[in-house]
Amino acid sequence: MHVEPIRWRGDALELLDQRLLPREVRYVALHDAHEVANAIRDMMVRGAPAIGVSAAFGVALAAQRGDDVDAAAAELRKSRPTAVNLMWALDRMLRARDAGRDLTAEAEAMFREDVESCKRIGRFGAALLGNSVTVLTHCNAGALATAGYGTALGVIRAAVEGGKRVAVFADETRPYLQGARLTAWELHEEGIDVTLITDSMSGHFFQQGKFDAVIVGADRIAANGDAANKIGTYTVAVLANAHGVPFYVAAPLSTIDVHCPTGAQIPIEERSALEVTSINNVSIAPEGISVRHPAFDVTPSRLITAIITDRGVLRAPYEEAIREVFR
Ligand code: MRU
Repeated sequence: MHVEPIRWRGDALELLDQRLLPREVRYVALHDAHEVANAIRDMMVRGAPAIGVSAAFGVALAAQRGDDVDAAAAELRKSRPTAVNLMWALDRMLRARDAGRDLTAEAEAMFREDVESCKRIGRFGAALLGNSVTVLTHCNAGALATAGYGTALGVIRAAVEGGKRVAVFADETRPYLQGARLTAWELHEEGIDVTLITDSMSGHFFQQGKFDAVIVGADRIAANGDAANKIGTYTVAVLANAHGVPFYVAAPLSTIDVHCPTGAQIPIEERSALEVTSINNVSIAPEGISVRHPAFDVTPSRLITAIITDRGVLRAPYEEAIREVFR
């Protein structure tokens, strides 16, 4: 099955409602930028590149309707704070508008380019894997998180397409369960070997020597290579390091924020306490309990074996490698 999180209908954006997966596959049609901003904020669509491409279509809808494009972009920009692909996509759309280009065509180009860049990431990353490997991933950096194909899961897809045997372990990824609901669903649908574990189990499997590599996505990579990704990624990176397992971050260049010097400057989203105190709307904690819920954490670049981008594999020293790739 071909997973399609975003469908452009010419005058409407159809999003696969990821909140309903894996129970139900339902598309929702959105007709203006305000609806797209709500869909991003409410997690109907999520994953850094998918958020960016959806926002671009939101701006295109505003232009088509004769709405104020600057106001639309400003509302979309506020929908989520951490994934820099959102800001990157909006800046590109506003530059296209200033240059007098057609905004629908620009968003369509961004959609196509995102799939192409995932496929390039896939090819570069697959070359790093052995012929028969077990890979741990965290959250969902798959087709669902992009215009299609995926970044971390794009590497796995490309390896499988190239004839390698890849077994995937997916962390469930509390609190929002992107691993259990999305990664497990997407890989299972495609017949890729996937085993679901809770986040608390990965240390045990590292100890048993189960993993040959860890591959995750990123929401924002700072100029020094520090990478923000779904909460719990840092824990996995520390474990990978302690066990001598390569830890790869797969992301397009649009995820690298050269204006952000280190991970300390990356804004970390904190979402509703309900994501921690309940599962599927069933409360699992005492009423009124105090809760913290950072949705992302930052993995320092010293724990990252390589960053697999659409322009090749970057290695330490990252500051130099990133400066070079943007030259
Ligand atoms: O909160 P989410 O589901 O948007 O978080 C997504 C992630 O952390 C992904 O790993 C990241 O955006 C990379 S997607 C290719």
